[in-house]
Amino acid sequence: MTSIFVLDAYGTLFDVHAAIARHRAQAGPDADRASAIWRAKQLEYSWTLTLAGQYENFWVLTERALDYALALVPSVDKSLKPALLDSYFKLDAFPDARMALKALKAKGRKTGILSNGSPAMLESAVAAAAIGDDLDAVLSVDTLKMFKPRPEVYALVTDRFKCRPGDVTFVSSNRWDVMAGVRVGFHGLWVNRANLPDEYQDFAPERTLNDLSSLAGIA
Ligand code: LAC
Repeated sequence: MTSIFVLDAYGTLFDVHAAIARHRAQAGPDADRASAIWRAKQLEYSWTLTLAGQYENFWVLTERALDYALALVPSVDKSLKPALLDSYFKLDAFPDARMALKALKAKGRKTGILSNGSPAMLESAVAAAAIGDDLDAVLSVDTLKMFKPRPEVYALVTDRFKCRPGDVTFVSSNRWDVMAGVRVGFHGLWVNRANLPDEYQDFAPERTLNDLSSLAGIA
């Protein structure tokens, strides 16, 4: 494949549902529903603000999305909010993600993150997961004040690595994110952990993986 591997952060390297999972007992029977709403609203706000030509950093949107989820799902105790936000700030990496980055570096590949996350969120999650040594670059949309899937965001990668889009393999569990990477000329890999149906057929990934454990093997 290519010599440069760039991965999405939330959902791909970091498990966005781990924050509520850590507090499952207190969050009650609707924990999973609240977590899904939290994630969906976080992304929706990033898209709608970008379409409107507005920007607030991803941490602000993450907190607003949690407020919405807690308002919509009253069975989840609202006093959990600070603990949930704290867990989100220090999300764990999926074990296969940590191994994949190490194996890519062992093969001499360049590695990076391209994420909507604010620099502070990414710094904290990278430190919590102890993956900093296996990353050549951590790129946040915050420098541009616009979110994925704007093409300008993906150009942060080619600017940073001084390369062409065709030199980059872009790896994301978000199918719409793969679509946007393929659209700018990256090689796309979709990590379909949840076995979701395919979409965006005009912007197909070169491969679909169940998780990241096989990534270094095909690199
Ligand atoms: C990110 C979002 C898409 O990390 O999860 O960029």
